[in-house]
Amino acid sequence: MKKSFPTPTAPMPRDTSRRTDVPAEAEKRISAGPDRNERGTFAPTAGLDGTPPAITLGDGYAMPTVGLGCYSLHGETCIRAILSAVGLGYRKFDTAAFYGNEKEVGEALRRSGIPRRELFVATKLYPNRFFDAENAIEESLRKLDIGYIDLMQLHHPGAHDTKAYRAMERAVEAGTIRSLGLSNYYIAETRDFLPRTKIGPVLVQNEIHPYYRDRAVREFLQRHGIAVEAWYPLGGRGYTAGLLGNGTVGRIARRHGRSPAQVILRWNLQSGVAVVPGSSDPVHQKENISLFDFCLTSEEMAAIDALDRNEKHDWH
Ligand SMILES: NC(=O)c1ccc[n+]([C@@H]2O[C@H](COP(=O)([O-])OP(=O)(O)OC[C@H]3O[C@@H](n4cnc5c(N)ncnc54)[C@H](OP(=O)(O)O)[C@@H]3O)[C@@H](O)[C@H]2O)c1
Repeated sequence: MKKSFPTPTAPMPRDTSRRTDVPAEAEKRISAGPDRNERGTFAPTAGLDGTPPAITLGDGYAMPTVGLGCYSLHGETCIRAILSAVGLGYRKFDTAAFYGNEKEVGEALRRSGIPRRELFVATKLYPNRFFDAENAIEESLRKLDIGYIDLMQLHHPGAHDTKAYRAMERAVEAGTIRSLGLSNYYIAETRDFLPRTKIGPVLVQNEIHPYYRDRAVREFLQRHGIAVEAWYPLGGRGYTAGLLGNGTVGRIARRHGRSPAQVILRWNLQSGVAVVPGSSDPVHQKENISLFDFCLTSEEMAAIDALDRNEKHDWH
């Protein structure tokens, strides 16, 4: 039986209570994948074989493998985009203090009527607030106003990152954040950072797409039981035309009767990488979450792997 992040049939009461306890094992596993999946990874078939399209993070919480990237969503556009995504079954939302939209993200999620425990909200602490992380965390909590944050990440390495992470660890102990992660940390940065943590990061979000596979980093993180998530999974704004128009991707898409975007996102998932494609277009949003009724062959995966050009589309 398929048991995952269901689309609601009726509005649910708002639940913004802050957690003050460490959640019970049973609750952590509420929508998690089966135990046969190693923590921090998921099987290429996750979501295809009736199992939930979720990853079990290193601390036992479940996270949907597809979320909505909220980077470019603001104001009413943001609220409309999130309500549309929720209606299509999205339950993970990726924002950041830097995006300047935590308030709208929280407002849309409260308006959606989806019970808080069914949602997974990730936000990030920007380096310009690492020195003042406690206040920055409080600001994110206040703006989101959804009781607790599922995952908070350091947005990228910077001065005072250990101090900032320590503040996030205290928030986990206080129950206002559940899981901790990093973003834009590669092998050297992660190796250097891990010994400085008391509560290990469960996820690293980095740029990953067919032109920038970053395989060594992905494998390093997965070996350490750290989930990997792609930002710019479609290549990023300004770069999608090249990737979506790629001949190899197009041929595979036609073979499956899917769009190029779906093939690229499916490739990510089958590489064990979670995705947060950004879109305010309901048609694109629907495509981007309709990924669990087709599967790429190993030859198709290898053909997309071979597109790698080590071509990064942003500076982090
Ligand atoms: N941690 C970091 O440092 C970092 C950095 C950058 C981004 N991020 C995260 O990653 C998320 C994704 O990044 P992104 O939104 O910039 O790039 P992206 O997901 O790679 O691409 C988004 C672009 O693709 C288009 N698109 C989406 N779905 C499509 C589809 N099915 N068919 C055709 N076009 C489609 C969107 O246009 P429409 O709106 O018209 O659909 C938009 O122009 C961000 O929202 C953010 O949450 C994190």
